[in-house]
Amino acid sequence: MSKKSKTPSKLSRVARSVPEMIAAKRDGGALEPAELEALIEGFVSGEVADYQMTAFAMAVFFRGMSPEETAALTLAMRDSGDVVDLSSVPGVKVDKHSTGGVGDKVSICLAPMVTACGVPVPMISGRGLGHTGGTLDKLEAIPGFKVETTTKRFVRQIEKIGCALIGQTADLAPADRRLYALRDVSATIESIPLITASILSKKLAEGIDALVLDVKVGDGAFMKTEKQARELAESLVRVGRHAGKKVSALLTRMDAPLGHAVGNAVESAEAFAVLAGGGPEDLRECTFALGAEMLRLAGVAKTEAAARKRLAKCIADGSAAKKMQEVVKAQGGDPRVVLEPDRLPSAPHAVIIPSPSSGYVKSIDAREIGLTAVHLGAGRTRADQEVDPAVGILLDKKPGDEVSQGERLARILVRNRAAARAVTGRILEAYTITQRRPKVQPLVIDTIRR
Ligand code: URA
Repeated sequence: MSKKSKTPSKLSRVARSVPEMIAAKRDGGALEPAELEALIEGFVSGEVADYQMTAFAMAVFFRGMSPEETAALTLAMRDSGDVVDLSSVPGVKVDKHSTGGVGDKVSICLAPMVTACGVPVPMISGRGLGHTGGTLDKLEAIPGFKVETTTKRFVRQIEKIGCALIGQTADLAPADRRLYALRDVSATIESIPLITASILSKKLAEGIDALVLDVKVGDGAFMKTEKQARELAESLVRVGRHAGKKVSALLTRMDAPLGHAVGNAVESAEAFAVLAGGGPEDLRECTFALGAEMLRLAGVAKTEAAARKRLAKCIADGSAAKKMQEVVKAQGGDPRVVLEPDRLPSAPHAVIIPSPSSGYVKSIDAREIGLTAVHLGAGRTRADQEVDPAVGILLDKKPGDEVSQGERLARILVRNRAAARAVTGRILEAYTITQRRPKVQPLVIDTIRR
C-alpha cells in the first residue's frame, strides 16, 4: 500500500476476491457479513464494477441468501450513505412502504392522515417501476410540487409539520439506488433477499422508529402467490426487527387495480377524495388498515378499532386534508388542489369504453391495466422518459359490480383519440365479465408481526 492511501478499502481486508465471492454465491455458498460490507463499499466507490454487481445479483437471484446474509447486506446498503437523525422530532416516527402495485395511491392520503393523528411520518417514496406506478410521479402531477430535496430540508420539514413526501436523496442508501438500476435491467428484481435489502436499506436510513409494509400479492404485484408474499413479508419483518425497528407487514391483494384511477393526476385526485371523506371502498380499506397498524406501532392507539376511529375523526374534522395542504405548500405545490382536485392537470379527451355484455365484473388484470397506462404515457419504458401527468385510465366498474351491455365500463384519458383507439382492445381484454355474481375476497389477507 502506498504511503499516500488513507484507510485501506474493506475489499483489501477480506480473504476472498470479488470474483471468488461471486463464484461462492453462484455455487450456493454463503458470504460473511464483512465480505458483503466490502462488496457494497467497493460497489459504491467504483472498485466493484457494475457487471460484477449484476453477476452477484443474478447469483443471489438463483441461490437466495440466509437470513443472516440478508440482514448483513441490508445494513451494508443502509450504511452506504447518510443515516438521517430525527431525534430532534419528538414521538415515534413511522413510515409505510408498499412493494408496488397498480392504482396504489395510498401513501398520498395515508401520510397526512397518520400525521394528523399526532404521529410524524418521514416518507421516502419511489417512481413508477415496470407496470407499477410510483408515488413520486403522482405527487409531481400537483403543480409546483417538488419531491427532490436535501436531507437537511427533509429533517427541517418533519420538525416543522411532521410529514414530508420526498424521493431518495443523493446521500441516502446510494448502494440501493445504483443496484436497483442494475436489477431493473438484468431481470433480477423478483428476489426476496434483494427486495428486502433494497426496501429496508432506504427505510432504515430515513430516521424511522417503526415501519408498516404493504406486501402486495397477485398478478399485479411482484409477488404473484401468497406463499412468496408471505416469505417476503417475513423476511422484511425479521430484518427490520434485527435492525432495532418495530416492523409489521400486511399482505394485501393486488389482483385488480386499487381504486378506480390509474395514472398520475387522477390518482392524486382519488387520494384527495379519501381525505375529503369519500374515495373508493378498496382504497379506503387499504388506507385505514395500514394507518391503524401505523398508529398501533406508534403507541397512540391500543386496538385496531381505536386506531380506525382516530383516522376517521381526522378526516371528518378536516385535519388530514389540512395536513396535506401544509405538505403541498412546504414542497412548493399549490395547496388548493387538495380540496379542489379539478386544478390538477387533465387530459383533453375521456374516451368511454362501453361494456360488450351484461353480467358482473369478475376480475380486472391489474398488470395489463398498469402496462396499458405506461403505454399511454403515465409511466416510463426508458429511465430518461418524462411521464404525462394527465393521461390514464378510469375503471368505472370494478370486480363484483353489475354491468349492462353498453354501460360505461372504463374511460381512457388521452391527449388524442387515436391513442385511446390503440388501447381499447387491451382494456377490454383485461376485464372478465361473467353471468354469476363473483365473491369478492377481502383486501387484507393477513398481518405479520413476528
Ligand atoms: N421496491 C423497492 O424499493 N425495491 C425493490 O427491490 C422492489 C420494490
